[in-house]
Amino acid sequence: MAEVDWRDVVFRQAPDSGDAGGGLARLRRPGVDLSHGVALYLDDISVSFDGFRALNRLSLSIDAGELRCIIGPNGAGKTTMMDVITGKTRPDSGQAWFGQTIDLLRLREAEVVAAGIGRKFQKPTVFENLDVLDNLELAMKAGKRVRDALRARLSAQQRERMHEVLSNIGLEQQASMRAGDLSHGQKQWLEIGMLLMLEPSLLLLDEPVAGMTDAETERTAELLRSLAGRHTLVVVEHDMEFVRAIAQRVTVLHEGSVLAEGSLEQVQADPRVVEVYLGR
Ligand SMILES: Nc1ncnc2c1ncn2[C@@H]1O[C@H](COP(=O)(O)OP(=O)(O)OP(=O)(O)O)[C@@H](O)[C@H]1O
Ligand SMILES: [Mg+2]
Repeated sequence: MAEVDWRDVVFRQAPDSGDAGGGLARLRRPGVDLSHGVALYLDDISVSFDGFRALNRLSLSIDAGELRCIIGPNGAGKTTMMDVITGKTRPDSGQAWFGQTIDLLRLREAEVVAAGIGRKFQKPTVFENLDVLDNLELAMKAGKRVRDALRARLSAQQRERMHEVLSNIGLEQQASMRAGDLSHGQKQWLEIGMLLMLEPSLLLLDEPVAGMTDAETERTAELLRSLAGRHTLVVVEHDMEFVRAIAQRVTVLHEGSVLAEGSLEQVQADPRVVEVYLGR
């Protein structure tokens, strides 16, 4: 089985220098064609587990640079949708496109990452025994053995990128702290930082503020708002205060399909949405 060369991934994914256009131009990267303004397009996706339809003809389109919130009751299919996008679960039918040209259903999980999709799972997975900076460095060199990766010299550009990310995630003061000693929220930010080291075009975050304090939740909202535009974000969350703080467009999933879509106010006023939340 051919392995993805992660070092190539890192360098090929470096953002365009000399970007004069800003906006969408910053999102353009080799391999991801965002020329029509669409970052992710799911069409008629169905997934069954032992006859149970976890996704039922799900169709969804996310614009480049958008911050989309996905809400919906437990079991609605939110995580399964992320599993399909990242190649973890193969749908029975349907299509999934990343930009105009990348057919996600033909890619393996590592290839999806290499194409520019980063995924944050609920539980933080940082290297507890390494300090914060080393975690970022390793993320950038993922795929190498730990010892080789730490020994390889960094370019000035890579160093700059690490410090930029460190500042984005607000952990400058903790740069040389052991990751295991960080708070739960700080570990979550570090993991987001580790994803950012690979310059993903699309970031998928599954319940990023679960278990966070109110203050950490607020900081996370700020962080995600600051990432939108430069990245496309898909955020699954149950915490409605948090969703209110970051929401642009909101999609409500229910029984594996889209039940409603619009601003948070619009979907919350939708009687069908009220019913699926209250009817439980
Ligand atoms: N590997 C699997 N095998 C069998 N059933 C599964 C599997 N993965 C998910 N399911 C089922 O599919 C449905 C959708 O699950 P999913 O985890 O996508 O929901 P969710 O919207 O993420 O829910 P939550 O808000 O609780 O995280 C659930 O009924 C779940 O039990
Ligand atoms: Mg889930």
